[in-house]
Amino acid sequence: MKRALTLFCVILLPGMLMAAKRPPVATPPAPVAPVVAEVPDAGTPPPPEPPPPPPPPDPAVTAAFLDVVKVLQSPRCVNCHPTGNVPMVGDKGEIHAMNVQRGLERVGMSCQTCHRHSAVDGPGPVPPTVKGWRMPPENMPMVFQSLSPAQLCEQLKDPARNGGKDLAGLLHHVEADELVHYGWNPGGGRTLPPLTHADFVARFRTWVDAGAPCP
Ligand code: HEC
Ligand code: HEC
Repeated sequence: MKRALTLFCVILLPGMLMAAKRPPVATPPAPVAPVVAEVPDAGTPPPPEPPPPPPPPDPAVTAAFLDVVKVLQSPRCVNCHPTGNVPMVGDKGEIHAMNVQRGLERVGMSCQTCHRHSAVDGPGPVPPTVKGWRMPPENMPMVFQSLSPAQLCEQLKDPARNGGKDLAGLLHHVEADELVHYGWNPGGGRTLPPLTHADFVARFRTWVDAGAPCP
């Protein structure tokens, strides 16, 4: 009995006293179970099908558009639709003489200083004499030179680059614009585009009616 008491006093009691003095230990927060979305019993849904590739453009429409490109890049059109600010003359894309370039208005001139509506035609090199002779504006230069058919196509139908036109407006431009008509009545013995104006408009219409797909 004495031995048991000694054991209690020497070993167990100090331990019990120390345990009683210990500051309370903060209990760690209980782990929060992650919120799991309810999964339907059928298991995870299958991944969505990739969208089908767009159908290849109708070859007849692509052919019509490539004819349109031939006209746009022919001398009578491309000469006013160059890559830079300098118009070209003739059939070989020579740069316009007399340092003529876009923005002549800044030096108090304009294209119409020489390209006057009332000027007389004659054997070249007389300036063409269409009313409103000018280049496309600097912020929408409508470049035809050196572009691929696909690049030309994207530019043509982009309202941010074509003067805000929809497809009907674009078709109207090639049908009715005086500067376009110039191409088939250039005077000065100049060559004509490779298609008649009527065929050009018909091809353009085929492309527009098909939704203007790009090659
Ligand atoms: C004297 C310069 C000149 C010639 C030549 C010319 N264009 Fe243009 N073209 C312009 C101008 C300027 C614009 C910008 C629209 C506007 O101001 O009417 C333009 C714009 C266009 C547009 C885009 C529509 C738009 O409003 O931006 C097309 C398409 C076009 N021309 C086709 C032709 C074709 C086809 C020919 C040849 C048959 C041709 N152009 C010859 C000056 C010319
Ligand atoms: C100082 C007079 C003068 C001014 C200004 C002038 N031109 Fe000309 N332009 C001519 C003459 C002359 C020709 C004929 C040259 C030839 O055919 O060899 C010509 C021819 C052209 C041609 C060639 C037409 C074709 O079908 O090959 C284009 C395009 C042209 N000019 C655009 C312009 C533009 C755009 C402007 C204004 C930025 C302009 N010109 C300003 C005198 C001028």
